[in-house]
Amino acid sequence: MKIAHISDLHFGAHDPAVLEALVAHLIEAGPHLVIASGDITQSATEAEFAAARAFFDALPMEVFVIPGNHDLPGLDLTRFLNPFGRYKRHLIDELNPELAAGPVHIKGINTARRILPHWNWANGAVSAKQRREIARTFEAATAPWRILVLHHPLMSPKEFPLDVAVFNKRPLLETISEQRIDIVLAGHQHHAYIETRQEEAHKTLFVSASTGMSTRLRRQPQGFNLLEFTDTTLRIDQLRYADGRFTTFEALSHTKSHTKPAASG
Ligand SMILES: [Fe+2]
Ligand SMILES: [Fe+2]
Repeated sequence: MKIAHISDLHFGAHDPAVLEALVAHLIEAGPHLVIASGDITQSATEAEFAAARAFFDALPMEVFVIPGNHDLPGLDLTRFLNPFGRYKRHLIDELNPELAAGPVHIKGINTARRILPHWNWANGAVSAKQRREIARTFEAATAPWRILVLHHPLMSPKEFPLDVAVFNKRPLLETISEQRIDIVLAGHQHHAYIETRQEEAHKTLFVSASTGMSTRLRRQPQGFNLLEFTDTTLRIDQLRYADGRFTTFEALSHTKSHTKPAASG
């Protein structure tokens, strides 16, 4: 099973040539599913959401989408009264979606908040209720690969100066380890990297994608990830945009450490 992980599309601040190359690549590569990990729009306007909707509708495969901090309106009343109204109307009503397909079980969590106890409301958080929802999802999951999708990352690459990890990161890391989540997909930093965390016999990959097509570049060009699963193996291609097209700049092969939870009791 092939999955494309795209992030930070920022419709409204996107490069039309990169958009075109992205659509062409996705159609040609033909993944079964596209996961978009937030910041679908730049300013959460009706027009930007309509453009995003048209983009998703033009893709022949299923799309799994979660919101990012840019999908909340700026400092106007809508942000406080109906923060995800436009997102829901144009894209999908469910902010914490779930999907089981073939060898993967995927849970998305909305980390964007209208207000945060921090000077930077662009940061994100995961609530105790959401952690319980993650636990419930994966307790019932039977697919070999468990994937969590967040907009805000849990790790920062060594070369990245600003820590933008979600609030309540520690209890969430505990949930990830208890539920033996294999892969955490994220965006937000516009920076592609893969960090691993080994917990006893289990390994979790933290995979971040660069911005898929926005002009808001930070040290890296636009990019996305292609993940190809069998029941026991995974190959991740990290692609970058240059000269009108996306090509792989790094590929990683990974074998699942174990497929069944240890018997309890
Ligand atoms: Fe972004
Ligand atoms: Fe973001």
